[in-house]
Amino acid sequence: MGKVKLAPSILNADFSQLGAQIREIQKYADLIHLDIMDGNFVPNITFGPLVVEAVKSITEVPLDVHLMIYNPPEWIDTFCNAGADRISFHPQACSDVESVLRTAKSLGVAAGLALSPEIPHFELKPYLHLLDFVVIMTVYPGFGGQKLIPEMLNRVGAVKRDASELGLEVEVEIDGGVKTENLNLALEAGCDTVVVGSSIFHSEDIAEAAREIRVILDKYSANQNRTLFGEVPGSVV
Ligand code: DX5
Ligand code: ZN
Repeated sequence: MGKVKLAPSILNADFSQLGAQIREIQKYADLIHLDIMDGNFVPNITFGPLVVEAVKSITEVPLDVHLMIYNPPEWIDTFCNAGADRISFHPQACSDVESVLRTAKSLGVAAGLALSPEIPHFELKPYLHLLDFVVIMTVYPGFGGQKLIPEMLNRVGAVKRDASELGLEVEVEIDGGVKTENLNLALEAGCDTVVVGSSIFHSEDIAEAAREIRVILDKYSANQNRTLFGEVPGSVV
């Protein structure tokens, strides 16, 4: 397992200071997570492609765009061209999942599907061969600052097993309610990326909050590697 990635979600950032806040936290981030909500698929409205483009113009950190909108086929090109480096959407919001995934890939953007708590994980099976990553929602999509639903964490292993049965590997991202106090649960579940929103952006010192999470992730990743290569002090190699 490689280094676990941190994707701060700007959903709970101070939008009057968005550029400054991104600059403050970016050195701790592997990805910036942008939640696109349309007020229909989820009961909240956030921002659209112009904001994605604006964020792209001020940071080198790759953008992880999470579409919580109906009709992804109509929007996929726009969001990819606005600067997404990876993009996910919800299969139940889409009439032609496969062609949206193929469009993203053809534009050089990593493609993923996001799994809301009420959607069974096996619904992803027909698409696994096309997926660069899967987003496991650990809250009901729509708002930041909710409590992580621990039962959802089993889905990380379930999706990875489904993939490996097909001879595939898939990266898994956890999204919703992650904070320092429960980060270990997410890591033990085997995820590759954690999205962290309010726990960073509602902190007094957002850079320090991001740094703390980065430190925990790096420690965990380093230990994983030591175990993998049998280099734990005292262990028989
Ligand atoms: C929820 C969003 C999440 C959210 C995470 O619908 O998809 O990405 O921003 O925020 P926290 O970490 O506050 O749950
Ligand atoms: Zn999200």
